[in-house]
Amino acid sequence: MTTLPLKVQIEGLTKKYPNGDGVENINLEIYEGEILTLLGPSGCGKTTILRILGGFNDIDDGKVIIDGKNVVDLVPEKRPTAMVFQSYNLWPHMTVYENLAFGMKLRKIPKAQIKAKIAEMLEMVKMGESEKKYPNQLSGGQQQRIAIARSLLLKPSVLLLDEPFSALDAKIRMQMREELKRIQSELNITVVFVTHDQEEAMSLSHRIVVMEKGKIAQIGTPTEIYDNPNSQYVASFIGEMNFIPQANALLAVRPEDIKIYIDETGDYKGKIQSVMILGHFASVHINYDEQDIKAFVPRLESQTLSEGMAVSFHIEKYQTYKKGA
Ligand SMILES: Nc1ncnc2c1ncn2[C@@H]1O[C@H](COP(=O)(O)OP(=O)(O)O)[C@@H](O)[C@H]1O
Ligand SMILES: [Mg+2]
Repeated sequence: MTTLPLKVQIEGLTKKYPNGDGVENINLEIYEGEILTLLGPSGCGKTTILRILGGFNDIDDGKVIIDGKNVVDLVPEKRPTAMVFQSYNLWPHMTVYENLAFGMKLRKIPKAQIKAKIAEMLEMVKMGESEKKYPNQLSGGQQQRIAIARSLLLKPSVLLLDEPFSALDAKIRMQMREELKRIQSELNITVVFVTHDQEEAMSLSHRIVVMEKGKIAQIGTPTEIYDNPNSQYVASFIGEMNFIPQANALLAVRPEDIKIYIDETGDYKGKIQSVMILGHFASVHINYDEQDIKAFVPRLESQTLSEGMAVSFHIEKYQTYKKGA
């Protein structure tokens, strides 16, 4: 990714609300044509950064450079960005067509051109037959497709998406992730995506920025962050992790990196607490030294395991963290 041109540079960005919350000394480079996700629990400052990029929040300190230009003093309309919010914000009294045409009419784009562009964009988001419908005649997922189409019609250089799929049910949410990836790669647009859902971040991002209390905890590709979380915080936030205290350190072990033996082959001895089949694999809890250890086991293999069984296990891969760090 690092060979791609720079699209956005955030330098030394600080924004504090009167109560002291906010974000502090954020430094971040975003490349052209990537989906970059800001990930972290509620309240860590994701929306604050996104709104700053879009021009909806002022800042205390720092620079925001988009396409080589400091945009800090520009109002949202003058920025090469478009933002989509969690609540779709379509105008309820306007049809889909009117919702989409609104911004272009303001820009005095000729009618025929508006029509053609809307038709093209509705195809892009797979909503071809919806021009005459009103928002309340559409499902949540369909409304969000229209909201995305509306923002894309403004031809933004950077598309900002704030938890756009979090109000949708699980199945539609997965579809929308796929759709977003397709649209992003067809248009080769730069996307900054915000979510608190680590699975969503893992599945659609080129890079993830993990945030903690107004600061950046780690930046990396999904694989880098999953395989090498740089702190206990990141390790516990991304995917599932067992933390096993040792004398001076904490071992962090992914459930899929624990190999169970029905004899004494493994380094650690324990007892099976439960075996739960979850589709193609099983989640197995082992009681080891008064701790609960979770292991993921292929389904066939799990059939040899049962509650109360004495087993041993081997840790195939682990990270260590300083205790309490
Ligand atoms: N307008 C505001 N005034 C005061 N505090 C705010 C305001 N907006 C956000 N905050 C606070 O700043 C912190 C970060 O908020 P936000 O960026 O919305 O987090 P996130 O999107 O990660 O949930 C939170 O503690 C939140 O309560
Ligand atoms: Mg938010």
